[in-house]
Amino acid sequence: MAASTKAQRSKRPIQAVAEAVHVLLLLLLFLSSSAAALTTDGLALLALKSAVTDDPTGALAAWLDSDASPCAWTGVTCRRGRVADLALPNRALSGYIPSELSFLSALQSLALPGNRLSGPVPAALSAVGGLAELDLSRNNLSGPIPPELGQLSSLARLDLSSNLLYGPLPPAIASLPRLSGVLNLSCNLLSGPVPPAYGGIPAAVSLDLRQNNLSGEIPQVGSLLSQGPTAFAGNPGLCGFPLKNPCPAPKQDHRIPQPNPILNLNSSDATPRPIAAEGRKKPVGTVPIIAGVVLVVVASILVLQWHFRRRRVAMEGKAPKNEKGSSPGGFGPAGLAGEERRDGHGSEVYAAVDEGFVLELEELLRASAYVVGKSRSGIVYKVVVGRGGSAVAVRRLSEAEDGDAFGGSGGDEWRRQRAFESEAIAIGRAKHPNVVRLLAYYYAPDERLLVYDYIPNGTLHDALHGGPRNPTPPAVPWTARLAILQGAARGLAYLHEFSPRKHAHGSITSSKILLDDDLQPHISGFGLSCLVSSGAEQRLANPASKKQAAGPGTDGYLAPEVPGGEATQRGDVYAFGVVALEVVTGRVAEADLEAWVRGAFRKERPLSEVVDPALLHEVHAKREVLAVFHVALGCTEADPELRPRMRAVAESLDRVVGAATR
Ligand SMILES: *[C@@H]1O[C@H](CO)[C@@H](O)[C@H](O)[C@H]1NC(C)=O
Ligand SMILES: *[C@@H]1O[C@H](CO)[C@@H](O)[C@H](O)[C@H]1NC(C)=O
Ligand SMILES: *[C@@H]1O[C@H](CO)[C@@H](O)[C@H](O)[C@H]1NC(C)=O
Ligand SMILES: *[C@@H]1O[C@H](CO)[C@@H](O)[C@H](O)[C@H]1NC(C)=O
Repeated sequence: MAASTKAQRSKRPIQAVAEAVHVLLLLLLFLSSSAAALTTDGLALLALKSAVTDDPTGALAAWLDSDASPCAWTGVTCRRGRVADLALPNRALSGYIPSELSFLSALQSLALPGNRLSGPVPAALSAVGGLAELDLSRNNLSGPIPPELGQLSSLARLDLSSNLLYGPLPPAIASLPRLSGVLNLSCNLLSGPVPPAYGGIPAAVSLDLRQNNLSGEIPQVGSLLSQGPTAFAGNPGLCGFPLKNPCPAPKQDHRIPQPNPILNLNSSDATPRPIAAEGRKKPVGTVPIIAGVVLVVVASILVLQWHFRRRRVAMEGKAPKNEKGSSPGGFGPAGLAGEERRDGHGSEVYAAVDEGFVLELEELLRASAYVVGKSRSGIVYKVVVGRGGSAVAVRRLSEAEDGDAFGGSGGDEWRRQRAFESEAIAIGRAKHPNVVRLLAYYYAPDERLLVYDYIPNGTLHDALHGGPRNPTPPAVPWTARLAILQGAARGLAYLHEFSPRKHAHGSITSSKILLDDDLQPHISGFGLSCLVSSGAEQRLANPASKKQAAGPGTDGYLAPEVPGGEATQRGDVYAFGVVALEVVTGRVAEADLEAWVRGAFRKERPLSEVVDPALLHEVHAKREVLAVFHVALGCTEADPELRPRMRAVAESLDRVVGAATR
């Protein structure tokens, strides 16, 4: 009795009174001769009976103090004469759970789910050393989860889901040494952060924290990295992997350039439209900014226009493409029909690299523009030209890291311009249905623009994982995923081969694969890793700038041999392999996706645990899924020499598609 009164110290008054009453009752029972025969176990169970105020199914009607042993009572199982299990599920019992249950010192399983019990979870239960299962789910229990439960050294399953529990997640629960089945705290009112200690929960435990009020960043430690998003869903304040809700920018991201203040930013929109939507709806909303920089939204480029006009840039616009030129470096501005002007600030050039491009600079700058994306390499605008509403994408390159380079001497300035132009021309030479086409470029000492075809349907990343405007996109069907991979592989193989310079892309991610209305992929960002470091010389001298060029959130795509993110073709193959894994698993590539998949295969986990759940109903595709896994794991071999060339990857995928359509 002393223990029981001690355990009640912190209880609310009504509760305390109620318990006092039944402690009295127990005492009476104890003293009465009829109960004298009953064991301590029986008395503890009678405490429960007296704590139950309503028993509509009569479950406890046969629990009589006149019995010698409780072992025949409803819901009770004894082993060696002691109460081992107590199971009264779905009996609509009202009342509370008395701490006297802790006197059931041989208890191994306490299961009272689906009742109407209210009041707290008794901390005294922590005294039941042999308790292996505690299931109090689907009741009306309230109050915090007692941290004392962490002392239950045999507990394997803990289910407190669907109650009214509030307060923090006790870190102690995570270090339960025997936890192996379920830790289900879902559907309560728990708040605060997920303690990092929860990363220590064995990966085999089904952790469920859904539908609470948890907040903050999910710690990227231990088994928390291998939990699926469903473990955390329904907590609006939670962010970070594996949720699609990105956390606010960490402080070290200050190296991402802020939007240029000369732009008068206004609210608007543009991507990503829901896949396979009619596409007529005028999209309105905001835009993601990689790594959570400020959401920038724009509108008219009026100020930008004014900014350019001031320099009196007038352009006739059209230029022939220079297909047959010798080395790209040999093309000076004079080789283009673009106009070159020199003034006190150096020269300005606006040149079309695509024959069909006739848009004049004035017109381009007058058109309405919307921010559609932002990355380390700069801001991308959708610019709608003319009343017909045809659109181009304008990438406004951010200034070089070594900012003062732009203020350099005239000679440097000239070299810089030449370097920019030769890169732009090289980019413009890449013409493939699966590579975003460069149409024109503009260069001024403090402004560099690249004008591309506008690809309307957002990125592969957003199609798979959702974007800020469309957090739960409809699942992309398997045939479309396969076609996207096939096209992207072809585009990348082309980039690797189209020039004797053996270009590499250097920053392949699912965000660099744009989708059009037919879900055909278009690789974007080719050549940018060169342009964003301030020029070719810097690129060679300072490979570290590459890593920055790759931008945040791309680490999952970096091949192990190029920690600095240097652009290599073998590195591109690796990154493509990660994209392929992303496409089949539906997981974001932030954590070490490749290692996770390899681990799952090594442990011979069922395919259903590895494949995107959205694909599971497409059972007919199993062989193709396996074939794509095979290709992806080949691409992500740790030894770069073991990776296939991009051409071979594209051909393998062609064969998979061929087999699929036969
Ligand atoms: C559950 O508790 C709330 C408040 O604590 C109460 O309003 C509600 O009636 C209870 N429900 C049941 C089924 O006991
Ligand atoms: C946790 O409990 C909820 C309801 O109480 C249930 O829907 C869910 O499936 C459980 N989660 C796991 C992992 O068993
Ligand atoms: C959720 O938690 C926050 C604090 O983290 C609290 O202010 C808010 O009232 C809680 N909401 C609910 C519904 O419990
Ligand atoms: C800003 O947007 C509003 C409507 O969203 C529009 O009426 C207004 O003209 C825009 N401002 C500029 C400067 O374009």
